Amino acid sequence: MKRIRTAVIGTGFIGPAHLEALQRIGGIQVVALASIEKEKARTLGTRFAIPKVYEKWEDVIADGDVEVIHNCTPNHLHFVINKAALGAGKHVISEKPLTMTSKESAELVSLAAKKGVVNAINFNYRFYPLIQHARAMMEKGELGKVYLVHGHYLQDWLYYDTDYNWRLETKMSGASRAIADIGSHWCDLAQFVTGLKITSVFADLMTVHPKRKRPRGAIETFKGKEMALSGDLEDIPIRTEDTGIVMLRFANGARGVVTVSQVSAGRKNCEQIEIDGSKAAVAWNQEEPNQLWVGHRERPNEVIIKDPSLLHQEARKYAHYPGGHPEGYPDGPMNLFMNVYDFIREGKDPRKSIPDFPTFADGHWENKIVDAVLKSDGTRKWVEVKP
Ligand SMILES: NC(=O)c1ccc[n+]([C@@H]2O[C@H](COP(=O)([O-])OP(=O)(O)OC[C@H]3O[C@@H](n4cnc5c(N)ncnc54)[C@H](O)[C@@H]3O)[C@@H](O)[C@H]2O)c1
Repeated sequence: MKRIRTAVIGTGFIGPAHLEALQRIGGIQVVALASIEKEKARTLGTRFAIPKVYEKWEDVIADGDVEVIHNCTPNHLHFVINKAALGAGKHVISEKPLTMTSKESAELVSLAAKKGVVNAINFNYRFYPLIQHARAMMEKGELGKVYLVHGHYLQDWLYYDTDYNWRLETKMSGASRAIADIGSHWCDLAQFVTGLKITSVFADLMTVHPKRKRPRGAIETFKGKEMALSGDLEDIPIRTEDTGIVMLRFANGARGVVTVSQVSAGRKNCEQIEIDGSKAAVAWNQEEPNQLWVGHRERPNEVIIKDPSLLHQEARKYAHYPGGHPEGYPDGPMNLFMNVYDFIREGKDPRKSIPDFPTFADGHWENKIVDAVLKSDGTRKWVEVKP
């Protein structure tokens, strides 16, 4: 099997997760790694036997060996790197959000279409086996018509005003934080499972800490908690939301509501979604991803355990181990990348074949939802999500 030559840019929290997933898929050679964290990049380069380690992302773009680029940098670099990679005719797997603005994401969608290269965004939560099963249940009509979609995405890693990360700075993260960073995952999941687009929103956002303390010197994502209350700190103003509630309307008239927070004590990565249909309901929680609750009116409720033999055919390939052998967070990106690399290997053109993974178009749509959320919060009105 010809190995597809790929490169990863960024070595913080998610870059190494991409590297590890790529190793597990097989048939892929990571030929280059780039990061401004020189030492970490060198260590990872040695660990994963990556022949070329660059400091500048531009060197990856210019490297003729590289066929695919994984963009795992902070948000403000997504547009410029994704655009340069598409321009060089490389396939791109970008971290979310696709860009910091929908103007930029629109540009990337049309550039990707012009180039005909494979483009993907890491909405990894779609790729849990039981999420795929829930979607298959929806497609087979087992849930009936969707009435209501509700849930939350709660974290606590920015709970204190001494918790710091680049995501707190608008120039690096964008005009929205909690909604764009994690709310976008939830909205993508809701739309993926139901097959329904979010068409309008009513949002109420809140910044709990309008001022926070920034350590002098950058820190890696999720390491903030370990550093909090120590070191040399300076005050910075915060212009993005710590938390928010968003009411939703879906294309079929269904209603929804999601609470998003990065300041909920004790909640680490609690993405919970419940879909109430006319025949049954389903509920799933990212922190207990190996079970799916199915709610019934006339008979006892069920809990489906992640076991390939119990899943709909469409979902089975995403469950790599038998029942009772839990699969979790690192497996979602791996499953997503597996589909992307199969698509590339088969020489498919995303303009002609429908990708079985989220694309830049999905990333752009999420940016449009974020635009509508910010506008709604500012105007205290319902706002339509417009293409
Ligand atoms: N899909 C998911 O579940 C998920 C989870 C976490 C993060 N993310 C996304 O991944 C992206 C990165 O987040 P993170 O948490 O890994 O951040 P991070 O701060 O931990 O890591 C960012 C990395 O980018 C590198 N970098 C910064 N500027 C660079 C430059 N000019 N050239 C090369 N490298 C550079 C940094 O050195 C660091 O290695 C964000 O956009 C985030 O939204 C997605």
